[in-house]
Amino acid sequence: MRVLVTGATGRLGRVAVPRLRDEGFTLRAMSRGPRTGDGVEWVTADLATGAGLAEAVAGVDAVLHLASSPQRRTHDIDVLGTRRLAVAAGHAGVRHLVFVSIVGVDRVPLGYYRHKLAAEQVVAAGPVAWSVLRATQFPEFLEGLLSGASRLGPVIGDRAVLAQPVDPGEVADRLAVLLLAGPSNRVEDFGGPEVLRYDEAARAWLAARRVRRPLLPVRIPGRLGRELRAGGLTTTATPTGVRTWADHLADTYGGTAGR
Ligand SMILES: NC(=O)c1ccc[n+]([C@@H]2O[C@H](COP(=O)([O-])OP(=O)(O)OC[C@H]3O[C@@H](n4cnc5c(N)ncnc54)[C@H](OP(=O)(O)O)[C@@H]3O)[C@@H](O)[C@H]2O)c1
Repeated sequence: MRVLVTGATGRLGRVAVPRLRDEGFTLRAMSRGPRTGDGVEWVTADLATGAGLAEAVAGVDAVLHLASSPQRRTHDIDVLGTRRLAVAAGHAGVRHLVFVSIVGVDRVPLGYYRHKLAAEQVVAAGPVAWSVLRATQFPEFLEGLLSGASRLGPVIGDRAVLAQPVDPGEVADRLAVLLLAGPSNRVEDFGGPEVLRYDEAARAWLAARRVRRPLLPVRIPGRLGRELRAGGLTTTATPTGVRTWADHLADTYGGTAGR
């Protein structure tokens, strides 16, 4: 199966490209900048302008759409860019558009999530048969949050917020299953093997890095806080990934504590 992967240089894309290639998919990887390597064909295209998209989708059976821009021009790139991609894919006769979204986009009131939900709706209303996989947080993303939350010394955060980190390699494996299954025209969740409270995740992270810091509890107010504490970022869907937060920390920082 010939597959265009958007966002091939991102956190998920860097893991997905070699895995899918090794599973026998013929990949075309997309980036805004010229690239080579990884044993795949690279194309240059920009979702914000549409430049290069027609060439990128020409001759592929499926599109795996991972590209996203959470910090800037999110509406342009995630919502309108997804529409540009879907339309180009429709014109090219692509048979399946697989879109990666996030567990909780329909529950948790965050600006980025509103754009991701809108992008899901663009995919579902578009001209190409589709599948959506909503994943929970990647461990590297959770680490980024914890680093940001501890810039001032203590680890600041709402102790009762629930997270369910999932290994991006396992997300990539699930995406391969979806590609092979063909369009479901459904939204499916995929989460990590365990639900953790923020304070549990923070303590394990500090211990793995052999850092002693206090936790400074701050309750996130309003509906955002309520949804985050009620498990808005988690899912009971099966199958789940198997790699735990402790596995990620042990592989990153050494040691086996908590595994
Ligand atoms: N991070 C998480 O914890 C998490 C959890 C669940 C789901 N997801 C979803 O998984 C997907 C991948 O996330 P990630 O963390 O791997 O993202 P990332 O590391 O931020 O990578 C973003 C990718 O988007 C591409 N991109 C940005 N602007 C673009 C544009 N205008 N045109 C074309 N490509 C553009 C970038 O490619 P170039 O810079 O090479 O052009 C890059 O490869 C996203 O859809 C995200 O919402 C993420």
